[in-house]
Amino acid sequence: MNKVISLVGARPQFIKEAVIASEVYKANAWNHVLVHSGQHYDANMSDLFFQELQIPTPRYFLGIGSSSHGKQTAAVLDKFEDILLKERPDMILVYGDTNTTVAGALAAAKLKIPVAHIEAGIRQKPKDMPEEINRVVTDHMSSLLFCCSELSSQNLKQENITKGVFISGDIMYDLFLRMKPHFLKEKMLHDFNLQEGKYTLITLHRDFNVDNKENLVSILEGLKGFTEETKLSVIFPMHPRTRNRIEEFNLTKYLTFMNIIPPVGYLELMGLLEGCTNVITDSGGLQKEAYFAEKQAAVIMPDTGWREIIESGWNQLVPANKAEELLPCILENKSIIYPENLYGDGKAAKVIIENIMSYLNK
Ligand code: UD1
Ligand code: UDP
Repeated sequence: MNKVISLVGARPQFIKEAVIASEVYKANAWNHVLVHSGQHYDANMSDLFFQELQIPTPRYFLGIGSSSHGKQTAAVLDKFEDILLKERPDMILVYGDTNTTVAGALAAAKLKIPVAHIEAGIRQKPKDMPEEINRVVTDHMSSLLFCCSELSSQNLKQENITKGVFISGDIMYDLFLRMKPHFLKEKMLHDFNLQEGKYTLITLHRDFNVDNKENLVSILEGLKGFTEETKLSVIFPMHPRTRNRIEEFNLTKYLTFMNIIPPVGYLELMGLLEGCTNVITDSGGLQKEAYFAEKQAAVIMPDTGWREIIESGWNQLVPANKAEELLPCILENKSIIYPENLYGDGKAAKVIIENIMSYLNK
């Protein structure tokens, strides 16, 4: 039987692995070895997802933790290479655009082990943002590239990557549809004293928004103005990076007008999403999940890889230095017709698994 190592390390990768692991198991597709880099490690950034989504316990935990980009990437590269040498897989599987992704792909490529990249072909300006570097490098080292949409495959074509490219649709949509009956809306409304349709869901963690004091102040001012004018309540499960910066920059006074809670599990976040009026986020995942849930999102970014939702008018980009425009943006796009099927039909895992099997059995 073929052996495939799947490498995860950060929250967005755990949720995608939940779908792949269970579908691989159902199809008895290959011997699936799960490795966790440890990029995210707090219980509510890691273990919680494994428990809630019944993701198998990783066979290896690299425990790399937090550090600078170079050190974090190097630590995964170093430790993951040892696993590859020991396990000798036929292929490795990486997700998205984190430091774990690029390090895993590089370790495998140097050992001539083929790489499959899920969520390939996403491109976003500026070119020097850490995730963009990770995506471009990973795509160029991959043998199989699974795209969420036609646009991603076009992006790859522009970089002369045409071989091994498949439009699978978005694995996050598979997960969303599968778990929808279990979303914890009622529990979250009750626990946080929220009224359905009368609150905004916020998440924020991008380095360009939260590590830069000027941008962070601009966003917090924008959110304050937004809540004062709309009288909507706000629930904000806060990433530890954002919490750390707010404390470091002495901005805790801004926390009083919002309901700040620690990061929550997937079913809890999707419950909050189902009950909210609208979303304000810089999360790649949540801007799509908002779309899946038919909620509109103001995306606090100068650009996004999820262009289809912006071009349809459903979500809107609001860069940090224009955060005072949050309210007009949200009011303006209320009349947009819901754009259907931007990211496939919720059967991405099937396409991914079939194509990996056919590649390995050639
Ligand atoms: C990383 C990814 C980003 C992704 C995000 C998902 C890179 C370059 N960035 O960003 O693309 O959108 O994950 O959430 O890979 N921290 C904790 N506990 C944890 C994890 C992090 O306290 O369990 C704190 C640490 O202070 C750490 C900071 O958060 O320095 C940032 O964590 P890191 O994984 O480096 O980047 P993210 O912002 O999470
Ligand atoms: N998420 C969650 N709880 C939270 C925040 C996020 O369950 O408190 C989930 C959600 O499904 C989201 C995914 O984790 O799409 C990844 O989120 P994050 O914003 O950290 O990363 P990104 O998608 O921007 O890389």
